[in-house]
Amino acid sequence: MASVTLSSVHKAYGDTKVVKGISLELKSGGFLALLGPSGCGKTTTLRMIAGLENVDAGTIHIDSQLVDGPNVRIPPEKRELGMVFQSYAVWPHRSVKENVGYPLSLRGVSKSDIDRRVKEALDWVRLAAFADRMPSQLSGGQLQRVAIARALVAQPKVLLLDEPLSNLDMALREELRGEIAALRARLGTTMIFVTHDQHEALALADHVAVMNKGVIEQLDSPRTIYEAPATPYVAGFVGGSNLLEGTAADGTFTSHGISFVLPDSLKTVTGPGTLAVRAEAMALGQPDGTPLPLLARLFLGHSMEFRLALGDQILRVINSADEAAGTGTLTARITAAHFFPASRT
Ligand SMILES: Nc1ncnc2c1ncn2[C@@H]1O[C@H](COP(=O)(O)OP(=O)(O)OP(=O)(O)O)[C@@H](O)[C@H]1O
Ligand SMILES: [Mg+2]
Repeated sequence: MASVTLSSVHKAYGDTKVVKGISLELKSGGFLALLGPSGCGKTTTLRMIAGLENVDAGTIHIDSQLVDGPNVRIPPEKRELGMVFQSYAVWPHRSVKENVGYPLSLRGVSKSDIDRRVKEALDWVRLAAFADRMPSQLSGGQLQRVAIARALVAQPKVLLLDEPLSNLDMALREELRGEIAALRARLGTTMIFVTHDQHEALALADHVAVMNKGVIEQLDSPRTIYEAPATPYVAGFVGGSNLLEGTAADGTFTSHGISFVLPDSLKTVTGPGTLAVRAEAMALGQPDGTPLPLLARLFLGHSMEFRLALGDQILRVINSADEAAGTGTLTARITAAHFFPASRT
């Protein structure tokens, strides 16, 4: 187990700046999720920590050791990290136990020690019964378990996981998500997990770094990220808030020429800015509601989603199915929101 520290890390491919000054500190035994949309630089950041790419500027430390920085380039195999990729990256012509034991045989570990440690690692991922199978005889979820066991077998200082669950179907993804949480609790390994799935990040990690275009917009606990987003971008990406551009005055917010009564907590805000409103934070058919044209109604099982028109913007509202009556126009009242003054956005 080790801590990981990035200070002002930059990386460009040609003229394209991909990582633009990322700093973070993950304590030994911590679990960090790098969360963001496609192309924001998550994999590049992870690959730099692994040593598969080198920083253009800035430094990376693992514990107190400088592994990447000016004139220092510690190669991946000397960093003692484990890595799991989105594509299973399991060698097709080696059996499960040969795959898992390979990192140990590279290090010259004795045959009997390899056997013992492979068995232990396969136990961790509940694959003990599959040791002699070939990869072609395994499901996607089992292949990814092999990759996790192989990454863990040498007891890495840090386990790096790059969207390890993205290729799996939903049920398997949820199952393996629980197993990763259990493994982490059992082994206490420092973990960095890359994902574009907010549910995965919030559910698994103790720290979430929300990335946007090569920078970290917010690095906080999952609860703080969800309940107190630092920027409109974070509010929109995590929790899927509607982002309304407009002006607050006298306890109302006006966007696209249409006014909403602000919730009590925001009665005193004034001026131009962005109002972030979660789909669940609007009540329909209430007094004080703003009438809006109903565009579509989607049945979600436990609730309904309503799409309402606000000028040329579509507002998503999730509400109990009872409000489904009425057609044409629904009134919506904002029950909770975050206001970001224009100067800060
Ligand atoms: N080897 C490379 N050469 C040139 N450009 C690259 C290279 N690797 C990545 N990029 C570019 O850098 C940007 C960030 O890529 P990166 O793989 O880090 O994104 P990501 O956040 O992991 O995205 P995804 O969720 O799609 O995996 C992208 O625009 C990508 O096209
Ligand atoms: Mg990626």
